[in-house]
Amino acid sequence: MRVLVTGGAGFIGSNLVRALIANHEVGVIDDLSTGNVANLHPAAWFRKIDIAGPALAKTVQEFAPEAVVHLAAQSSVPASILNPERDWEVNVEGTRAVAAAARDAGATRMVSASSAAVYGEADELPLTETVQKRPTNPYGASKLAAEEVLASELAGSRVDWASLRFSNVFGPRQDARGEGGVVAIFCSRLAAGETPVIYGSGSQTRDFIFVGDIVNALIMGTTAETMLNDAGAGGPAYNISTGVQTSVNDLARMLRPTADFFGEFEYAPAREGDVEASALDATKARDVFAWDARVPIDIGLAQTYRWFAANPTDSV
Ligand SMILES: NC(=O)c1ccc[n+]([C@@H]2O[C@H](COP(=O)([O-])OP(=O)(O)OC[C@H]3O[C@@H](n4cnc5c(N)ncnc54)[C@H](O)[C@@H]3O)[C@@H](O)[C@H]2O)c1
Repeated sequence: MRVLVTGGAGFIGSNLVRALIANHEVGVIDDLSTGNVANLHPAAWFRKIDIAGPALAKTVQEFAPEAVVHLAAQSSVPASILNPERDWEVNVEGTRAVAAAARDAGATRMVSASSAAVYGEADELPLTETVQKRPTNPYGASKLAAEEVLASELAGSRVDWASLRFSNVFGPRQDARGEGGVVAIFCSRLAAGETPVIYGSGSQTRDFIFVGDIVNALIMGTTAETMLNDAGAGGPAYNISTGVQTSVNDLARMLRPTADFFGEFEYAPAREGDVEASALDATKARDVFAWDARVPIDIGLAQTYRWFAANPTDSV
């Protein structure tokens, strides 16, 4: 199959491309705004373009994908607050443009990355796809709007599509600089012999999922019989998550022996706007396309730490 991956030079995209390349013809579109040239796979077709720019449609036509996995996004919450216009342009108008280009180029499947951020503050955990969405920042609002433009752009077309709402993803190749996830930041600091900092009490929880499980969900999403017709309540939006809450203190405890770190983590005041607890229920993905999270967190953490130890990043 010919699979086009937008954002293929980023964290999740580069892991996906590595998994696809043995069995598929893979194309990557990325503007390298947060992605890294070193992440690009040498056997993948690549074009450096902005998904929200004028070259998109022609470039997608040139590759002529059968399936599109859309991961390119402005994915930083602080950046979305500083520049909500650009966040909207990339995440909403960019998704609309990718959907239109995929349809017009003859693709029959599109899987698009969405996020736990569409839900905002939760009344009850774990969250299912049908609960009321109350995003608390422009990033969450744009990811929710992106799901809607995907539906409106592809309705009545030959393209079967789905939005996959990831919880907190971690793994090799995550960028520990800027707003990299807490696991990447901890691993990077530990590998550099520095002491990681926990913001707040560390009792805040997240639903951490290993990138290998996300890659499997994206591959199953592009090959499943149908994502659309069997989607049921809430339409073709699926939580991709473990459903398990892990506290930041637990993360630190699990990483200590892996990293041979016997000191104490530092504590700093909590950051404004951080939610206290998060977990998504992935029963629907299991029921519709037989996906399940398989990698235990301690195994994923050990693999991630080993990658950071072998690939030192600038200190964070
Ligand atoms: N990492 C997570 O925990 C997480 C959680 C939920 C959802 N997501 C979503 O998954 C997707 C991938 O996230 P990631 O963690 O790999 O982020 P990332 O920043 O590593 O990857 C995004 C990629 O998209 C590219 N890009 C950004 N804007 C672009 C544009 N206008 N045109 C072309 N390319 C552009 C970047 O250069 C980068 O390579 C995003 O849609 C993100 O919102 C990620």
